[in-house]
Amino acid sequence: MVIGRPWRQNPEFGAGGGSSPFLRILSGVFWHSGTPRSPFRHSDAWSQGLLAHYDVQKYFVYNTLSHDYKVPGILHSRIPWRGMSWCLQTMTGNKRTNPRDVTRLSGKPLAETLEPASVLETNTEPWVTSQDLTEYGLSFKPEVILDMTLFLLANPNMSSSHLYRADILFDSLGVLKTPQQKEQSFAQAGNSNLETTVAADENVEPITAREFSGFTLVRTVVRRLVPRNPNLDRVMDQTCHFYEANTPPQRTDKSADSDAQPINRSLVIYTPHITSKEDMPFYHPLLRSLAFLYDYNPNTPETASGPGTMSIHFLQFPDEPIQNRLERTLQALLTIQIRLARGTRLTGKPEGGSQNPVKDNVIPQHLVQNTYTRLKAKYASELCQNWVESTEPSKHVFEDLSITAFLIELWRSMYGAVPADEQNTTTTTTTTTDQDPPKRPFPGFVDVACGNGVLVYVLLMEGYTGWGFDARRRKTWSIFPESVRSRLHEEIYIPEPFATATPSLLDQLTIKSHTGTFPKDTFIISNHADELTVWTPLMALLLSPESPSPFIAIPCCSHSLSGAKFRYPPPKAPKVKSDKKDPVSLAEGTEAENPASGDLKSLRKEKQDAQQTEAGFLKSMYGSLTAKTMSVAEEIGYEVERTLLRIPSTRNMAVIGGRKRTTQEWKDESHGVDADIKGDGNGEAVLERVMEVVRRECSREGGVDEAAKIWVERAKGLNKGSGSGKQGGH
Ligand SMILES: C[S@@+](CC[C@H](N)C(=O)[O-])C[C@H]1O[C@@H](n2cnc3c(N)ncnc32)[C@H](O)[C@@H]1O
Repeated sequence: MVIGRPWRQNPEFGAGGGSSPFLRILSGVFWHSGTPRSPFRHSDAWSQGLLAHYDVQKYFVYNTLSHDYKVPGILHSRIPWRGMSWCLQTMTGNKRTNPRDVTRLSGKPLAETLEPASVLETNTEPWVTSQDLTEYGLSFKPEVILDMTLFLLANPNMSSSHLYRADILFDSLGVLKTPQQKEQSFAQAGNSNLETTVAADENVEPITAREFSGFTLVRTVVRRLVPRNPNLDRVMDQTCHFYEANTPPQRTDKSADSDAQPINRSLVIYTPHITSKEDMPFYHPLLRSLAFLYDYNPNTPETASGPGTMSIHFLQFPDEPIQNRLERTLQALLTIQIRLARGTRLTGKPEGGSQNPVKDNVIPQHLVQNTYTRLKAKYASELCQNWVESTEPSKHVFEDLSITAFLIELWRSMYGAVPADEQNTTTTTTTTTDQDPPKRPFPGFVDVACGNGVLVYVLLMEGYTGWGFDARRRKTWSIFPESVRSRLHEEIYIPEPFATATPSLLDQLTIKSHTGTFPKDTFIISNHADELTVWTPLMALLLSPESPSPFIAIPCCSHSLSGAKFRYPPPKAPKVKSDKKDPVSLAEGTEAENPASGDLKSLRKEKQDAQQTEAGFLKSMYGSLTAKTMSVAEEIGYEVERTLLRIPSTRNMAVIGGRKRTTQEWKDESHGVDADIKGDGNGEAVLERVMEVVRRECSREGGVDEAAKIWVERAKGLNKGSGSGKQGGH
C-alpha cells in the first residue's frame, strides 16, 4: 500500500514548485505506485520534511516531521486514497512505538463516539469530547505537562510540518518573550548591531476568556502561528487561556477518605483569532476552539498504571461535520503531547525554550527563519529549475539557502551589514546624523571549498562582497551571471606551514594554488569543507595573527591536518564540572577510547546516540571532529561558540570563532572609539602557537614535511574530473 500527499501541500514550495524534479518524482510515486521506480534518497527529500523509501516491491512516503500521524492502526485503513492531507506509512521499519494504549480505542469513527464535554459545560457552547480522545494511566506530574505545553506553544512545528514556529505576542505573566524582547535581550548581551533592526511589536488583544465552573484563569498567552511557506498559508493569531482547578476526589475513588488530596486539573483552551471558518488556515484544525485537559489524581494507588488523564475537548463550527482529517489531527495531537511529555526533563531551562543549549543560541530563531523564507521565495525555484549537476538540487539549494540566511543575520549582528534589498528602505529604527562616524563596511567573505558555489552566488546577489574557491570547478558555476562566475575560482589551498616546509612540492601542481592570503578581516566560511575543516581556525588566524579573522566552520567528513581521512578520538569527559557555558569538554581523549565501529548494529546505535545526547554526539566521528575544530580554535586563542543550524542536513553543527570580538570592534568603530581590541597583539607568539598545533597534529603522520607531501598528493587528485557534477562528502 502506498500513500502520499498532494504535492500542493508540500510546505517548502509555492505554487511554482510543481515543476521541481523532486515534485515530479513525488507525484510519480503517487500516481504510479504499482511500479517500482527510481527512488529518491533520504537526503534528497529531507529538505521537504519528507522521507521516501524504496523497498523492492513498495514505496512509502511519510512526513518526517509528523511521524505522529501513525495513529492507531484503525485510522490507516480509513484514509482515502486521493486528496489525503497527510502522508503516512504502512511499512515496517522506522516506526516509533505508539505512546497510547490503542486497546482502549473503540475503532469507530470519531463522529460516532462524541459526547458532551461535561467538564467544560457552559450554557451557551456545546463543547464535545470522546473516550477515543482520552488517555488514562499517564505518569506525568502537572509541572511536566505545563512545561511541555509551553514548549509546544512556541514550537507548533512539532505537530505540524507546515509551521516554522509561533511568535509570542503577549504573555500575561510576562515570561514568554516576544520577538522584539528576544532581539533586545540579544542586543543587550553585546550583539549590538541588532538594535538597529528591532521593529515595534504589534499590539494584539487577547480574546476574552470563558468562564468554566470550578476553574480559575491563571494565564493568557497570545501567539502567532508562522507558516513555512507564506505563499501557501498565512499567519494566524491564537489566544491560549490557561486554567487550573482542584476538585475533591470522587466518591467512587477508594482513596476518597479524610486525608485524600484534591485532583489537580490543568486546562488549556486554544482559540484562533478568526471571524469565520473560511478564514481558517489549512494547518489548523477546523474548530472554533480546542482544549487540552490534564487531570492528576495524587490518590491513585502505586499499583495502578498512572495518576494522569489527558483528554481533548473541542467546539465545532455549526453544521461542520467531523472530517477524517480532523479526526487524524486530533489523534495525532494527543499522541504528540504524550510523546513530548515523556521526553520532557525539568531542567530549569527558560519556559517555552528548547532543551538544547546550542539551538538558537547565537541568533534568535525568528530572524533566521524570516530571512530563509525570503531567500527561498527569491531563489529556490530558479536554482532548482536551472540545476545542471547530476545530484538532486533540492538538497543543496535549501541547505545553502538556510546557511545563507544564518550568515546574513549573523553579519547583521556583527557588522550591522544589511542585505541589498534593505539598504534603501527606512524600516530600521536607526537614524543617521551628519555627526555619526562613517560606518565601517562589511569586510568581505571567502567561501573555502565552495563546491557548487550556490552560497557564493546568493551572498553576492544579496549584496555582500566576497568570493569562493574550490579545487574543482562545478557545472553549476556556468549557470551564474558573469559577475558571480568571476568570483568563483578553481584554486587549491595549500596551508602556509606546508608551503613553507616544502616549497618545491607546489611546482607539481597544475592548477593555481594559494596559501590563504585573503584581505585582513575577511570572514571565512568553511561549509562541509572536508580537508579544510580543522584548518579553518588556523587559516583564519594566519591571515592576520595580530587581528585574527572571524570564521564559521560547518564540519562534515573527518580529515587530519594532512588531508588524510582520520577519525579524531572523542574529547575526554570533564573530571570536575566545567564552569564554561558550553557543555563540550574540549580536552582530547586517547585513540583507544574510540567506539568500536564497523558492524552495522554498532554504527546504527552510534548514530542514534549521536542524535539524542551530547555524549553520543561527541562520541560520533562527526561530533569528535566538531570538538576537535573547537579545541584547535580555542588553543590558538579564539573565543568559540557552537550552534545547531536549522538546516536540512544531519551535518548541521556550526563552530563560530571570533564573533564577539569582531562585533565589539565594529561597534566601537561605528561609535568613534578607537578599535584596539585585537588578538593578543603579539603576532610572533601567536604564530608559534599555531605552529605548535600544526607540529603536534602532523606528528601522527611523521611530521610537517610528511603531512605536506600527503596534502599535495591529495590536492593533485582533487582536481581530476573537473567540471563533473559529482560532489564529494555528504
Ligand atoms: C564535501 S565538498 C563540499 C563543497 C561545498 N562546500 C558544499 O557544502 O557543497 C568538499 C570540497 O572541498 C574541496 N577541497 C578539498 N580540499 C581542497 C583544497 N585543498 N583546496 C580547495 N578545495 C578543496 C573539494 O574539491 C570539494 O569540493
